[in-house]
Amino acid sequence: MSNYHIKHLEEYFQVYRKSVRNPEAFWEEIAEEHFLWRKKWNKVLSWDFSKPEVKWFEGAQLNITENCIDRHLTTRGEKTAIIFEPNNPEEEAQHISYYQLHDRVCRMANVLKEKGVKKGDRVCVYLPMIPELAITILACARIGAIHSVVFAGFSSNALATRINDSDCKIIVTSDGSFRGNKSIDLKGIVDKALEECPGIENVLVVNRTNSPIEMKADRDVWLQPLLDAAYGDCVPEIMDAEDPLFILYTSGSTGRPKGMVHTTAGYMVYTAYTFKNVFQYRENDVYWCTADIGWITGHSYIVYGPLANGATTVMFEGVPSYPDFGRFWDVIEKHKVSQFYTAPTAIRALAKQNLEYVENRDLSSLKVLGSVGEPINEEAWHWYNNNVGKKKSPIVDTWWQTETGGIMITPIPYVTPTTPTYATLPFIGIQPALMNEEGNEIKGNQVEGRLCIKFPWPSIARTIWGDHDRYRDTYFTAYKNNYFTGDGALRDAVGYYRITGRVDDVIIVSGHNLGTAPIEDAINEHPAVAESAIVGFPHDVKGNALYGYVILKETGETRDRDNLRNEINQQITEHIGPIAKLDKIQFVSGLPKTRSGKIMRRILRKIASKDVSNLGDTSTLLNPEVVDEIIKDAL
Ligand code: WT7
Repeated sequence: MSNYHIKHLEEYFQVYRKSVRNPEAFWEEIAEEHFLWRKKWNKVLSWDFSKPEVKWFEGAQLNITENCIDRHLTTRGEKTAIIFEPNNPEEEAQHISYYQLHDRVCRMANVLKEKGVKKGDRVCVYLPMIPELAITILACARIGAIHSVVFAGFSSNALATRINDSDCKIIVTSDGSFRGNKSIDLKGIVDKALEECPGIENVLVVNRTNSPIEMKADRDVWLQPLLDAAYGDCVPEIMDAEDPLFILYTSGSTGRPKGMVHTTAGYMVYTAYTFKNVFQYRENDVYWCTADIGWITGHSYIVYGPLANGATTVMFEGVPSYPDFGRFWDVIEKHKVSQFYTAPTAIRALAKQNLEYVENRDLSSLKVLGSVGEPINEEAWHWYNNNVGKKKSPIVDTWWQTETGGIMITPIPYVTPTTPTYATLPFIGIQPALMNEEGNEIKGNQVEGRLCIKFPWPSIARTIWGDHDRYRDTYFTAYKNNYFTGDGALRDAVGYYRITGRVDDVIIVSGHNLGTAPIEDAINEHPAVAESAIVGFPHDVKGNALYGYVILKETGETRDRDNLRNEINQQITEHIGPIAKLDKIQFVSGLPKTRSGKIMRRILRKIASKDVSNLGDTSTLLNPEVVDEIIKDAL
């Protein structure tokens, strides 16, 4: 037996060494023993980071849904695959068994086929956290279509950009969505987006909120009658190991969002293996990740990783504050959740509430707590540990990215001793390196640098959809023969890693990565705005909040400032979504720029966080006088 389930620290070190000494032999053994292949590979790995090109399990054939569903039917057919917990606690939860999941995925796959979707076609999925979301992406994988999930909190503009970037021909959506005591008109957002998307031929609509919506003849159709009429079995499409499985967009610091492409076999192997170990999943556990499937966390650790292990995974439609701030704890008690995986921003928000919410619930089923998305600050870590885990459940602070597909640096619970704010040790097979600004590796411990990965792992994204050059430039150019993560990190005396944050301009607000460029674009759309720059500043709940510096056009100078602030935020909400609204807006006459015309965000960040004692080297500034003015007027 290969070491599929690590049980103590010595074993971790032993397996880790094996995985880096001979990665091919290591991953081959894992792949052989734990998955269903239609045909085995000819070669485990070929790679060249200078191109960049990475191929795992070349020549192998499989279908990931056979691994996530069919192969469990003989032993776990009646077992619950998905527990759906609706927004409204009065509405009954759904328990979908592996048999039922098979039936529903096959029906959906047949509906997509009837609508002309073929292997390699892109399917946009814009759905709230309801079972149809998981079912639709699995149905795409069943027939070899590439799913592109767009988080259902994004605006019509953001949706249209993503649909067009990957030429989706069909979109699956719902009439509306429930979030707390609000309902959102999703179909209206889709209709608006589709005005800009000539490539979309069909819109399949789930009835979730029963709200009156417009259905465009020849384009829009209700999904349920089609599912009812469809056949409940569908022969899986046989896919090559390196066939794309999905596209998922992530925002960068400049330009269009990047459609990260993940392929089939390596992604499956890595997400399944990490799930098993990072959450120490056992057969009868109930696992709950609170992320939305619109993010990579949901793809890898609500759907594919858990289902590949035959696990029971919870899908929660609602929000942590509805009907009150005890909802998470209610759900844990109700479904006897064993592993709970959430984000620091949620923990900080809940830690602000009365302790009674968490104290009045029976959380004794919990065995492992997880954190992901941004650095977890020490205070939040202790609150989580003391009040949720009752000091009995280890916290796994998992560092990874949309691009990495799976968890990269993490403790293994009950194996790796944890330290607050440290993601601790690289996962099996992961070879991190810290680099200095000259591009050389910094060896040894008690050092800090830019975090790179030296060697490919199975679930690394293979390209950016339609723009391989950008993929190379973004991740493989700064540090030769390394994947550059964009994050800074330090390695302490015992070799534990602590992530210090993004080294580029991306700002993480409530765990969401926000690029500066799209937000500035949205601000600049306002008729009174000439130019803008946004930076992040520390915020005790959101991690970071956005601070905008805005230069007005002359026509704007006479306008009421508070009205302008509202209009600018309105503009951002329409273009990007409410997540990107600015907490502070300062009107300025100019922005500090380098001679090559680039905004010096470092200075703006310092001013925003009220730390102006040392602005660093300002000698390359084109217009130093503007800095004094901005400091004088800072909010
Ligand atoms: C960026 C990736 C991976 C799923 C969610 C985010 C930051 C993520 C941690 C952590 C410190 C973290 C990094 C990373 N990040 N997890 N445990 N500690 N920082 O995916 O949107 O692609 O963002 O989130 O800066 O690069 P993403």
